[in-house]
Amino acid sequence: MDKINLNTPAGNSSIIFQEDGLQAVKKWIDDKYPSSRIVIITDTNVGAIYQTQLANTFSGALALSVQAGENTKRLASVKQLATELINDEITRSDIIIGVGGGMVTDLAGFIASIYMRGITFIAIPTSLLAMVDAAIGGKTGVNLEAKNILGTFYPAELILLDPLFLNSLPDREFKNGLAEVIKYAATLDSSLVEDLMKDEVELLTILQKSAQAKTKIVNDDFKESGLRKVLNFGHTFGHAIESISEYQLLHGEAVAIGMIYANKVAQNLNKQAPEVGDKIKELLDKYHLPTEIPSGFRVEDLVEFIKKDKKRSGDKITFVIAPEMGKYEMVELSAEELIKLIQ
Ligand SMILES: NC(=O)c1ccc[n+]([C@@H]2O[C@H](COP(=O)([O-])OP(=O)(O)OC[C@H]3O[C@@H](n4cnc5c(N)ncnc54)[C@H](O)[C@@H]3O)[C@@H](O)[C@H]2O)c1
Ligand SMILES: [Zn+2]
Repeated sequence: MDKINLNTPAGNSSIIFQEDGLQAVKKWIDDKYPSSRIVIITDTNVGAIYQTQLANTFSGALALSVQAGENTKRLASVKQLATELINDEITRSDIIIGVGGGMVTDLAGFIASIYMRGITFIAIPTSLLAMVDAAIGGKTGVNLEAKNILGTFYPAELILLDPLFLNSLPDREFKNGLAEVIKYAATLDSSLVEDLMKDEVELLTILQKSAQAKTKIVNDDFKESGLRKVLNFGHTFGHAIESISEYQLLHGEAVAIGMIYANKVAQNLNKQAPEVGDKIKELLDKYHLPTEIPSGFRVEDLVEFIKKDKKRSGDKITFVIAPEMGKYEMVELSAEELIKLIQ
């Protein structure tokens, strides 16, 4: 398999898997949009490493770079970048390529979706988290007060998943993305367990299986009415832990601990054999992902956060568990029930 299609009411994406794939993107553009100008949006970290390679492949492209870091994912950056597009006379028939982690693909996708009411967007995710999650599925956005408050559904027409970018990704960021892969293994594709247990992981296989898992869910439930919630496995507690750590813990690290809590809940409901939870923990341990809340954290604070979060979204919490490896079930719980189930 070297290509997957994502078909959504807001448009379709082709996801291609290729090492050294920039040339394939160039060819796709030359075939489909031969007279379009290309804008590359990246961040300072990714730009510093891949600037020359990008400039050589997309000669004549307008190269724009923003400061690396989640703090850049905000309206001020949208305004700054859009102004540069205007100044360079970028039109509706041109193309924006977002090259970077999820921060960049979310921001660049958001701009592409609103600039002149929408111009062609291509995503080249370079972090593992963006490859297996952020860049797939069509959600774009920026933060305002809270995360991703402003956003659109705007799938990239083309998504390149090129494992070679991961060679330069810092180890902690790589493991951050692996937590989401372990999530897919636990809830959607148990064959990933074997892949992840290997001494040397085959990145291409992991990217393909993860992209397939996410695509399948998004194809069936684009706007998150139900099924897409399975992607929240480990995230109910994960979001709480991430927030209470004031983002000192990376998203994947918080989700790793969240998956352990999800297993506790499932086992207390008699819905998961201990071996399943043990296997998930073994995977997290193998990749040195945390499995316990940092000292100083109080479980009560986590539940308090979840309660507040719940107030915003309705009465009960839809909590995702993995009854068997590669299977999921959603249980509706009140905050009070949840507290009892994690004792
Ligand atoms: N749209 C969605 O569906 C969705 C889903 C999940 C997450 N997200 C968003 O994704 C963002 C998180 O993504 P992220 O973890 O990739 O964060 P990020 O984009 O901040 O990247 C993490 C760090 O890695 C660096 N980096 C990225 N690729 C690199 C490479 N190849 N070599 C060296 N350094 C590299 C970045 O510069 C940054 O410092 C958040 O904003 C989150 O809201 C969106
Ligand atoms: Zn996540």
